[in-house]
Amino acid sequence: MRNSMWLLMPALLSIIAIAAESPQQNTEDHPAWAFLVPDATPPAGTEASGPIKVPGSTKSYTQKEIDDLANPPDWFPDEHGPAPQIVRGGASNKGFACGSCHLFAGYGHPESANLAGLSADFLVQQMADFKSGDRIDPARMNTISQATSDEDAKQAADYFASLKPTVWVKVTEADTVPKSWVNAARMRLPLPNGGTEPLGSRIIELPQDPALATARDPKSGFIAYVPPGSIAKGEMLATTGGGKTISCTVCHGDGLKGFGNIPELAGQHPIYIARQLFGFKAGTSKSAAAQQMQKVVENLTTDDIVALSAYAASLAP
Ligand code: HEC
Ligand code: HEC
Repeated sequence: MRNSMWLLMPALLSIIAIAAESPQQNTEDHPAWAFLVPDATPPAGTEASGPIKVPGSTKSYTQKEIDDLANPPDWFPDEHGPAPQIVRGGASNKGFACGSCHLFAGYGHPESANLAGLSADFLVQQMADFKSGDRIDPARMNTISQATSDEDAKQAADYFASLKPTVWVKVTEADTVPKSWVNAARMRLPLPNGGTEPLGSRIIELPQDPALATARDPKSGFIAYVPPGSIAKGEMLATTGGGKTISCTVCHGDGLKGFGNIPELAGQHPIYIARQLFGFKAGTSKSAAAQQMQKVVENLTTDDIVALSAYAASLAP
């Protein structure tokens, strides 16, 4: 019995490895609209070619240069303070410059996170939690934090904490949304040949200008389509708890602007907020601080998560 178990081990391990690489793709607690699964076949007419420019910048890059995570484009170098080496280049952490996915402005994309103006202590703690595995992000941050030294993480945290947040996501209630697809970098984009579909109980976050968003332009933000009535419902849940959760403002502060080490939620990407709420429910964050979110999410339904994310994202940061 024992021997046959050992013989089976490699097969079992490879099954576990496959499961870890491709988490459930689209279930009630892990919906594809929040976790973004790339489409196998990109639609025709979506390949960029030649030099790319963005309004107001004198710089020019090719899409290949823009997508080099080790050396991201800095479209407006005069509009942010001096960025530490780890934000500008990935030489010391296997090629993952923070400025690529999170942008030099810190606002990030729906598939990553907005870091601008979060407290440095909170950011350092999240990097440590990703590194230890107390917080799980199979897509990106576990690998990245493990490759990043604590000193680099601290410098990046100080930099992102110093940035001024802005209204980067416009939250709009709608019944129908543009049909969309998800590219290899997990950004959701409208289908080039148009069409609409019912939104249902989802949040669909799309760039205001797909070409500028894929160019990592820090001045062209996002539109989040949310179900009608969700912002008001989210406000009710966030401020009163609605009998099924604890009022968010008690800990996250008035206007959800954050309080000490408790992060600001106002103006964050709504699908990022939703991913975290699903994650807390699934127990993918195990730190002492994350335990405080356990009771909060226990009884939340998908509709509640959609409403809370819509409301928090709609607040000015
Ligand atoms: C290849 C893309 C990519 C790069 C490069 C990257 N990140 Fe991230 N980061 C992500 C994604 C994706 C998430 C969202 C994870 C999730 O949804 O749970 C994230 C989330 C985070 C968070 C959590 C924010 C919060 O509010 O809790 C922190 C902190 C963070 N990143 C810091 C960094 C730092 C520091 C660097 C540079 C060393 C970096 N990231 C580089 C993709 C990236
Ligand atoms: C008892 C205090 C408390 C309450 C109440 C609370 N939170 Fe939190 N929340 C926290 C703490 C602490 C963290 C940081 C967890 C960590 O470090 O992993 C957090 C983190 C989060 C995050 C992750 C943000 C990020 O940037 O990664 C989200 C999203 C969130 N809370 C949403 C909510 C919502 C929505 C509510 C109300 C329904 C709520 N919280 C109520 C304490 C609280």
